Amino acid sequence: MERTLVLVKPDGVRRNLVGEVIARIERKGYFVTNIRMLQADRALLEQHYAEHIGKPFYEPLVEFMLSGPIVALIAEGNRVIEGFRSLAGATDPTVAAPGTIRGDLARDQGTKVVQNIVHGSDSVESAEREISLFFGGK
Ligand code: RTP
Ligand code: MG
Repeated sequence: MERTLVLVKPDGVRRNLVGEVIARIERKGYFVTNIRMLQADRALLEQHYAEHIGKPFYEPLVEFMLSGPIVALIAEGNRVIEGFRSLAGATDPTVAAPGTIRGDLARDQGTKVVQNIVHGSDSVESAEREISLFFGGK
């Protein structure tokens, strides 16, 4: 069964949207098979966001992700990687389609990095790598 790593980012936790995100994953028919709340540290985020090191939004992104607790979960189902990214919507919440998590629940706050409630893995390889980072290889 395919798996993906979903993060509810600090903005989602601060705004009490953890249940809303989980409900959308479950209503779509995917299974949440592991979940934890944590305060990320810089070392974890450097690994998680290694592909973005050196980009202009990298440091603001790390600072944002350090700004409060996050929720990490594993969702499972056929084509869940693609399916969750479809549920999440476009990276920029201003243009994310209504009906998506980002389109319905986020907007531009004028911050250095876009705050968009959720992260979802973008390939089988990144999903397995990210699940190992957040769930120790389970
Ligand atoms: P994610 O990894 O969070 O699921 O989002 P994504 O694939 O849609 O976006 P990605 O390109 O991987 O970027 C990771 C996160 O960095 C922030 N970002 N800000 N131009 C910008 O201001 C910008 N570009 C990316 C977002 O928080 C994005 O989700
Ligand atoms: Mg990404």
